Amino acid sequence: MQFSLAIAASVLASTASAVITGTNQNGSIFMFGNPAPARNLLYNYGACGLSTYFPGKVPASMPLVAMPAGVFDKYGSAQHNTLCGKIITISRNGVTRQAAIADRNLSADNSIDMTLDLWQAFGGHDNDGSLIRGFSWSIAN
Ligand SMILES: *[C@@H]1O[C@H](CO)[C@@H](O)[C@H](O)[C@H]1NC(C)=O
Ligand SMILES: *[C@@H]1O[C@H](CO)[C@@H](O)[C@H](O)[C@H]1NC(C)=O
Repeated sequence: MQFSLAIAASVLASTASAVITGTNQNGSIFMFGNPAPARNLLYNYGACGLSTYFPGKVPASMPLVAMPAGVFDKYGSAQHNTLCGKIITISRNGVTRQAAIADRNLSADNSIDMTLDLWQAFGGHDNDGSLIRGFSWSIAN
């Protein structure tokens, strides 16, 4: 009895610690214009190497993002980063979108870098590279 309770407790603990979240995160746009070539760049050349190390892991219809280095680097480097290919749920002002993590963004803005489809969903415009602030996010890691 005690043994199974201990197992149940550790399962609960690992489930609880598996979700990581952030608030008040900046967002930025990775590349203006058609999101498809931008997504290809992130897929093929992002720090995670999704095309090489995680083939088939991410649905082709799912947008990709680069996580700010300040977040990404806590979880390993390059393809060994445990966030690679994970789904992030991003919200701002009542808009929620999901994306997969493909890259690391080293910017002073500490921003989640995204393609135009996501950018527009959150109220950004093509050719507007200003920062959008105040995102919250969660990742089931
Ligand atoms: C990082 O974000 C900046 C904007 O803050 C952007 O200009 C740059 O392209 C991004 N870099 C990567 C590798 O995603
Ligand atoms: C968002 O970007 C601004 C401008 O670079 C920066 O001053 C601020 O610290 C950033 N906010 C967060 C939460 O990283």
